[in-house]
Amino acid sequence: MGLDIRGRSFLTLLDYSPEEIDSLIDLAAEFKNLKRAGIAHRRLEGKQIVLLFEKTSTRTRCSFEVAARDLGMGVTFLDPGSSQMGKKESLADTAKVLGRLYDGIEYRGYSQRVVEDLAKYSGVPVWNGLTDDFHPTQMLADMLTAREEFGHDLRGRKLTFFGDARNNVANSLMVVCAKLGLRYCACGPKELMPAGELVGKCRAVAAETGAELEFTDDPAQGAKDCDILYTDIWLSMGEPAELWERRIALLRPYQVNGALIAKAKPTAIFLHCLPAFHDRGTTVGEEIYEKYGLEAMEVTDEVFLGPQARQFREAENRMHTIKAVLWATLQ
Ligand code: CP
Ligand code: NVA
Repeated sequence: MGLDIRGRSFLTLLDYSPEEIDSLIDLAAEFKNLKRAGIAHRRLEGKQIVLLFEKTSTRTRCSFEVAARDLGMGVTFLDPGSSQMGKKESLADTAKVLGRLYDGIEYRGYSQRVVEDLAKYSGVPVWNGLTDDFHPTQMLADMLTAREEFGHDLRGRKLTFFGDARNNVANSLMVVCAKLGLRYCACGPKELMPAGELVGKCRAVAAETGAELEFTDDPAQGAKDCDILYTDIWLSMGEPAELWERRIALLRPYQVNGALIAKAKPTAIFLHCLPAFHDRGTTVGEEIYEKYGLEAMEVTDEVFLGPQARQFREAENRMHTIKAVLWATLQ
């Protein structure tokens, strides 16, 4: 398929061409078929990778672990409490050590600068498993899920992100939509719109690919003609809990509920990177209910459990797409 990204890091999709992104998603679909058919694909036997997590995770960690094991690799997991990084040892020194022991490094944490520096100093491929700015592996899963619904060519499909439109997931959606020629709509309050610098970069990409970018604070406008309704948590990891009150006040109108999804195309699907606050079944969800009387935040059960919901298929696709990235960069 002409995809050659051996030895490269995967830090943001801005670094990848539309053709490379396209090929990674195709490769993920092939790995998904192999897995479904029960055909072994231990193509990276003997290699070792390390997963560095400074924030919590379910899907990303498990997807990297399962994907690596399916490919025959060994995996080490390091959480914030169990490495010296940043406390007794600099980032550069840690990267130099890990680069000598491992064939690749996954990092989830705060600053995008950290993941860039890990790549700079380690000398091995580094994969961004989420920073404050970007969540690129999530995007491949999202686009694979969209393709499974709408077919291979997603150009012209409208994807609207409702909520905190300058968080890591929303930033990355704007990038991937620009790269793959979709219509991206950021729908949220004016103070939570993406940074001008990133919008500028995406506009330049869109000019090449035919993608369209739209920004609105009107939920009805966001839902109009929409093929993919996407939302995410209203307060991201690393943001202070004191912000909940302000965020709830700002983002309430952007909740994805039955009335909103009814304004989209009848064939539209709902995606969410997860985890989601769709009921009171979590400690945070219950606290928010007691304090603000909200049964759900960014999405209601009507949508989350409804016929248009695809978020669990999307979660499974994290593993297949991460496997594609591992294989393509380490082969
Ligand atoms: N979507 C996602 O990244 O999930 P985790 O935080 O569970 O890894
Ligand atoms: N925006 C969310 C995404 C979680 C996968 C966060 O950073 O917490």
